[in-house]
Amino acid sequence: MVSVSVLGLAALAVGPLVAANAIPERSAGLTTSLRAVRNSHAASHVHARGLSRYGRAIPEGLASLVRRGDVDGSTVTTYDAATGEWAVIAAFGTPPQELPILLDTGSWDCSQSEKSGLPANISLYEPQDSITARLLKGYTFDIIYGNGDQETSGDIEASGDVFLDVLTLGGITAPSQAVESIVNYTSGFAELGATGIVGMALKKNNTVKPVKQNTFFDNIKDKLSLPVLVADLYLEAESHYDFGYINRSLIDEPLTWTPVNTSDSQQGWWSITVDGYEVGSDGLYVESPFASIVDTGTLQNLFPSEIVSAYYAQVPTAVNSTEYDAFVFPCNETLPDFSLTISGKKFTIPGSLLNVGVVTGDTCMGNIQVIPPATNGGLPQPNACIGASFMLQHLFVFDLGALHIGIAEKSYIENTTFVDL
Ligand SMILES: *[C@@H]1O[C@H](CO)[C@@H](O)[C@H](O)[C@H]1NC(C)=O
Ligand SMILES: *[C@@H]1O[C@H](CO)[C@@H](O)[C@H](O)[C@H]1NC(C)=O
Ligand SMILES: *[C@@H]1O[C@H](CO)[C@@H](O)[C@H](O)[C@H]1NC(C)=O
Ligand SMILES: *[C@@H]1O[C@H](CO)[C@@H](O)[C@H](O)[C@H]1NC(C)=O
Ligand SMILES: *[C@@H]1O[C@H](CO)[C@@H](O)[C@H](O)[C@H]1NC(C)=O
Ligand SMILES: *[C@@H]1O[C@H](CO)[C@@H](O)[C@H](O)[C@H]1NC(C)=O
Ligand SMILES: *[C@@H]1O[C@H](CO)[C@@H](O)[C@H](O)[C@H]1NC(C)=O
Ligand SMILES: *[C@@H]1O[C@H](CO)[C@@H](O)[C@H](O)[C@H]1NC(C)=O
Repeated sequence: MVSVSVLGLAALAVGPLVAANAIPERSAGLTTSLRAVRNSHAASHVHARGLSRYGRAIPEGLASLVRRGDVDGSTVTTYDAATGEWAVIAAFGTPPQELPILLDTGSWDCSQSEKSGLPANISLYEPQDSITARLLKGYTFDIIYGNGDQETSGDIEASGDVFLDVLTLGGITAPSQAVESIVNYTSGFAELGATGIVGMALKKNNTVKPVKQNTFFDNIKDKLSLPVLVADLYLEAESHYDFGYINRSLIDEPLTWTPVNTSDSQQGWWSITVDGYEVGSDGLYVESPFASIVDTGTLQNLFPSEIVSAYYAQVPTAVNSTEYDAFVFPCNETLPDFSLTISGKKFTIPGSLLNVGVVTGDTCMGNIQVIPPATNGGLPQPNACIGASFMLQHLFVFDLGALHIGIAEKSYIENTTFVDL
């Protein structure tokens, strides 16, 4: 049964994705479970991306590690897939161009790199090969990562043309999605290796001018059974992003819901309030409310420095390294657990998942790091970021209808780590 053929174009564009991903309709709307494939990246890449995404210059020590993994010795990172640890397949245009993308709750734009300057074996969206692509004349976009202050943060910017085209994920189609085709970009942007991103944050901060465009999520939400996106991520087991339904068999406890702060001050991020935190399994709970975005596009958890200091104060061997702009420690260190309390409920990430991997030799890097601070006059920056590593033990439900986030511990929790020692 093709549950998505409500639109003429959809039937053309869905192809094999339907068989692989579509789930029978249970109510009036559509649902789908989209398989996500993990591309593990070295700890140095993970951290470099975390820093540059939030406007921090990459220190030379870290940059030299990142460059070691390069394609053909150039200064770009390995373009093995879309940025990020989990990639999904999206079908752009007609006939469908199936490309790996990052489903990113931390940004608002659907952007695709253009071919120039990239290794030949990387597939990218080619609007000229799509009979449904329509250029939006006079429209442009300008994505700036971080604070936009090129003096202090490097130069991470991309801009280009805007097309309307068919976009299908997991058999669900937006027939007229604004696809931002990157034409001009800076070397800093190239280092992010962001070939394809489908932004899932709130559309209010989409960067298309003169008229902001809907995100894919906004374009399909009224067709869904429920207007939700669910992240169900694992390191080794099969990961999924589910649209339109909440699979209750993934959790044994009720979801704890927390409102998204939709005020303009929060820039259209999925921003929630965290009540407090705790270091260790029977540590001291520190009540200290702070705003945090929830970002599937960042692996690490990035917090204000007092929280990060409190965490590593419990790791005697940890060092605040200027070389890597990160807290590092010997790889054989046993790390304490870390918990956040949200809407009165405590959610714990075990210490075994707080080592993101080897930086160099026997030195490993933490999955909790300081969020780069905003600078005067720069673009607003989030105050904290709950990243995808927090989603390994917890199901996260992004509800675009009620604008709240649901969190629950998952029933299946892998017994695994980022680093095999
Ligand atoms: C592209 O080629 C480079 C260099 O040969 C290789 O490392 C990389 O894995 C390839 N990427 C893809 C997507 O095939
Ligand atoms: C790219 O940059 C060039 C030079 O600044 C500019 O003329 C051109 O309009 C830009 N193209 C797009 C699509 O932004
Ligand atoms: C979000 O949009 C507002 C209004 O256009 C703008 O002032 C702000 O800089 C944007 N924030 C980010 C992080 O791009
Ligand atoms: C719900 O999750 C269970 C457990 O992982 C899985 O077997 C089942 O296929 C999922 N159902 C749907 C509709 O996603
Ligand atoms: C939203 O965030 C702003 C600070 O940026 C804060 O002043 C406001 O109280 C928050 N609103 C809610 C409902 O939490
Ligand atoms: C880590 O060291 C840098 C200086 O290298 C300093 O600015 C920063 O505040 C330190 N971070 C913490 C959490 O102590
Ligand atoms: C970690 O390894 C170092 C030597 O490399 C050793 O001195 C230390 O005792 C080890 N620590 C633990 C917790 O095993
Ligand atoms: C996880 O795996 C380790 C090593 O195989 C084992 O010792 C440990 O008991 C397992 N823990 C759980 C919770 O299954």
